[in-house]
Amino acid sequence: MTDVSAAPAILISRMLPDEAVRLARSRARVDIHDGEAPLRKPELMARLKGRQGLICLVTDQIDDELLAACPDLRVVANVAVGFNNIDVEAATRRGVVITNTPDVLTETTADFAWALLMATARRVVEGDQYVRQGRFKQWEYMRLLGGDVHGKTLGIIGFGRIGRAMARRALGFGMRVLYQDAAPADAATERGLNATRADLPTLLRESDFVSVHTPLLPETRHLIGADALRAMKKTAYLINASRGPVVDEAALVEALREGWIAGAGLDVFEEEPTVHPGLLGLTNVVLAPHIASASHDTRLKMATLAVDNCLAVLEGKMPPTPVNPEVLLARGK
Ligand code: DGY
Repeated sequence: MTDVSAAPAILISRMLPDEAVRLARSRARVDIHDGEAPLRKPELMARLKGRQGLICLVTDQIDDELLAACPDLRVVANVAVGFNNIDVEAATRRGVVITNTPDVLTETTADFAWALLMATARRVVEGDQYVRQGRFKQWEYMRLLGGDVHGKTLGIIGFGRIGRAMARRALGFGMRVLYQDAAPADAATERGLNATRADLPTLLRESDFVSVHTPLLPETRHLIGADALRAMKKTAYLINASRGPVVDEAALVEALREGWIAGAGLDVFEEEPTVHPGLLGLTNVVLAPHIASASHDTRLKMATLAVDNCLAVLEGKMPPTPVNPEVLLARGK
């Protein structure tokens, strides 16, 4: 390890894989919070005093107040593709570079959204519980019937990297894909993915599975509310592996209880880690603790990319995946 006594100082807000921590330690003076729970804002501010870099997770709220209290901070490297936990406008105004971790988690996240889709339609969790509870006494013809996946229509809301990775997997199931996105994909992509752009009402009306892959923005908050859920087929399933507040959880509970839709698979929740109590009592929903990108390989890649991003900024370079590159471009980087 080289002498890092004159190197920049960074805080890592939660324990990351060893390899990524070693990389950070090789070029920076590193403080790591290795507690179970995220640091509360006052603690985070205190630990950031005199530090130029922060590597943080989606559970850390980086707002204007925190940025104002940490004038030495030059970069916040989020270990996530989503960055709704960060006030990017405030950071840009204060000359703080924000980075995220796109691409490295695309396929893993789509794998998991598909796992939720399959588990929900084919009642995998209910089947597991049925066996564990000793209720599997004899094979029954009508037991745990679910919905077919192959040959159905998959509606994808948000046709970015992860949305398209969903569509690639749908090809193997002979599915028709409808997608909703502000920007149309080019014709070759649409042809290759057997995907057709549709407006939201059409997508909701015609899809057997609706999978949400849009970022959380003011205009996507509660995009899937009571009206959208009522517009879906009674036999359809909703999958959400994007951000919880895109779905109105109270409306979803009602939809699942009243049979407006057949089921749902959720990896994210409106008030994580709190889950709407109504969801906990329902069998037609599969719940996961925000683990769509949680494979060994991908979590290492995300952490390493975040460290690379952080070190690049502190060493005066353009980071690999900036969210607000204008901060550096204004400085001629
Ligand atoms: C992301 O990357 O945005 C995930 O939700 C957290 O891993």
